[in-house]
Amino acid sequence: SAYLPLAGKTIIVTSGPTVEPIDPVRYIANRSSGKQGHAIAAALARLGATVRLVSGPVSIPDPEGVSLIHVETAQQMKSAVESLLPADAAVMVAAVADWRVESEWAQKLKKSPGGAPPTLRMVENPDILAGVGHHAKRPRLVVGFAAETQDLLANAKRKLERKGADWIVANDVSHTSGVMGGDRNTVRIVSKRGVEDWPDMSKEEVASRLAEKIAEALSPPSAL
Ligand code: C5P
Repeated sequence: SAYLPLAGKTIIVTSGPTVEPIDPVRYIANRSSGKQGHAIAAALARLGATVRLVSGPVSIPDPEGVSLIHVETAQQMKSAVESLLPADAAVMVAAVADWRVESEWAQKLKKSPGGAPPTLRMVENPDILAGVGHHAKRPRLVVGFAAETQDLLANAKRKLERKGADWIVANDVSHTSGVMGGDRNTVRIVSKRGVEDWPDMSKEEVASRLAEKIAEALSPPSAL
């Protein structure tokens, strides 16, 4: 018989980068393939969850068995995510741009001979994870990611607090790690209770194990 521990549960997943326009032809974005977020969405669906994936632009195939909302900017991602509440869990894997250009130019910026390059005035984007972590309709389980290049644990612990998350999945994305765009990942799960170090594995396997851990966290304690 099918093993579907997440049947009846609704889970929001964010994935991919957000893309913040400068003018009609240019943008600022974070580096993100969407591989880890899409794999997590698919793994949760395989365990029976109703998965609502909100993704920025990626070039990988849509994961199977999930409903997908495509967005571009952080502001669009935030409204899409909030429109999906309430949910049993939220897993925020997207690489959201921290800043956007204050006001997008309506026309393509043109070079003029001898002219000065444009200056971009940036404003901060909303923190989608923190919004969900502190929301009146907060899901029972809120999971964030933390891509760090240094002080991995200290930064992850701070994020747990500040963003109101239950777990932060921390991974090292320094250039030597090969994580960015790659197929493997080494993660540490940071929670109030401590730190779990997972061995190096494929992003698929990280996704499957995380989906199992989420199923455990959402299942009522055994009556036996
Ligand atoms: O602060 P930092 O960007 O490292 O935090 C990463 C976590 O926060 C990820 O789970 C990411 O999806 C989420 N995040 C967000 N909205 C932002 C910035 C980050 O949801 N504006």
